[in-house]
Amino acid sequence: MTSHPNPSTKVSLTDLQERKSRGEKLVMVTAYDYPGARLADAAGVDIILVGDSAADNVLGYDTTVPVTVDELLVLVRAVARGTERALVVADMPFGSFQISDEAAVANAVRFVKEAGADAVKIEGAGPSLARVQALVGAGIPVMGHVGLTPQSATMLGGFKAQGRTAAKARRLHADARALEAAGCFSVVLEAVPAEVARRVSDTLHVPTIGIGAGPDCDGQVLVWHDLLGLNDRKPARFVKRYADIGTDIQRALEAYADDVRTGAFPSEEHTYTIPAEELALFEAATEERERAPDADR
Ligand code: KIV
Repeated sequence: MTSHPNPSTKVSLTDLQERKSRGEKLVMVTAYDYPGARLADAAGVDIILVGDSAADNVLGYDTTVPVTVDELLVLVRAVARGTERALVVADMPFGSFQISDEAAVANAVRFVKEAGADAVKIEGAGPSLARVQALVGAGIPVMGHVGLTPQSATMLGGFKAQGRTAAKARRLHADARALEAAGCFSVVLEAVPAEVARRVSDTLHVPTIGIGAGPDCDGQVLVWHDLLGLNDRKPARFVKRYADIGTDIQRALEAYADDVRTGAFPSEEHTYTIPAEELALFEAATEERERAPDADR
């Protein structure tokens, strides 16, 4: 197991930048609740993203598009309460930053002020660049996200790798550079050919965080449910499963159901007792009442 630097001090934006300069990889994972945040923090993860992937992984939506700011605020609050060391990044959901700079700042302020996020993430470049400037101008650190941006998957032709032609790779490279110039402290590269991601990572001064973008990004991110085997979807090519917790949970619930049905649970060790003399008094009083039911009416 590798150790992480400064296990007890809060990760800062400067730390992330310095780690890139030293060639040390950054670890990011999504989390959506208090116990998850505590586990990720204790494992020494550097950045916890409360992704809008909560939409399909936690809230049962088909895509990330329907999830609202109010729904994510509850999750960000729980994650912030469970995190001491990692940087907590709140993902701004679809519709929360597209309309205007003012709406983007108002929604991002809620994530920071009401929920305790350290930073926000927004998808896309182009129109998102003005939003990044507005948010950074308001004092809110912003992580960018290019490549496969699930909120606009329909526009991108579906959930597939991006930047696979020279022209598209150049566009992606330019977008990542523009996000850095607009003030992003880091940029997520999702589903991008490894060679293109390497070039982008070499060009940018701020750290890149890859998901399906090869080994040369400055850090990596995986979605909690993918990494731990908590969903039954066929995992994307870029997912590595480190556990099969979903199967463990299912087995545990089936064993519990069996125990309840057969009477094996609860057993003596899970049961409270009453001293014998108190029990005798209780039973005598109960019998008395049953013999004369109207006595104490
Ligand atoms: O919402 C999310 O989980 C994300 C990561 C895949 C980067 O945006």
